[in-house]
Amino acid sequence: MLKLTDAKVELDKQLILSLDEIELAYGQFNVLAGPSGAGKSTFLHLISGQLKAKQGCIHWKDQALEQLSDNDCSRWRNQEVGFIFQDFYLIPSLSALENVILQHSFSNWRTSTTLKQQAIALLKQFGITNINKNINQFSRGEKQRISLARALSGNPSIILADEPTASLDKENAKFVIEQLKEQAQRGKFVLAVSHDPLVIEQADQTVYLERGVIQHESTDAA
Ligand SMILES: Nc1ncnc2c1ncn2[C@@H]1O[C@H](COP(=O)(O)OP(=O)(O)O)[C@@H](O)[C@H]1O
Ligand SMILES: [Mg+2]
Repeated sequence: MLKLTDAKVELDKQLILSLDEIELAYGQFNVLAGPSGAGKSTFLHLISGQLKAKQGCIHWKDQALEQLSDNDCSRWRNQEVGFIFQDFYLIPSLSALENVILQHSFSNWRTSTTLKQQAIALLKQFGITNINKNINQFSRGEKQRISLARALSGNPSIILADEPTASLDKENAKFVIEQLKEQAQRGKFVLAVSHDPLVIEQADQTVYLERGVIQHESTDAA
């Protein structure tokens, strides 16, 4: 369970998020919806410890983020969190495989064979065959599948996706949603920020955010 209690975020002395209480479960497909500027990306930065709350508590299972030092918080994030972005944030000068394993080379002086094998397996699973090709030679749909592989490598327990389907055609969007749902079914914490109806209709739980405040929640009882 992710539980936020009375969490407030200020940026440039402006209150960006003001969240009384939110509980989101592992093992389901969570969606955070809301208009542009509502604070959705800021919410992802907050729950992944990239941004400190002015006040309040962010508890992941039994880990309270506010109790971690900056170093421990980075370590926790590297181990536990995988990110997927609308614009991929892939490194243009590297190959598909290098992009997937790059993040691990910051924490280990040498990427382990296991991580490399896992990266290759993930890319293959997502239909990326020419893994040594430069990232610029892949289509947008392929790039998002490569960033999915990057997010899942190292087996993080938390998958956070910021508008992961916004720049994709319908077929590729559906593929990304299916993969996120599958990760949830495996018991992981999965949260996608989106206003894409394709994503929202697949959600088990949707939280609507407007001007930094939760408007309402809906749970798919089906
Ligand atoms: N670094 C920052 N400094 C000041 N204001 C920011 C910063 N980042 C975002 N904001 C503001 O916070 C609000 C929420 O932004 P964001 O979380 O990116 O919204 P969303 O992802 O829902 O579009 C916006 O009004 C934005 O201008
Ligand atoms: Mg955003």
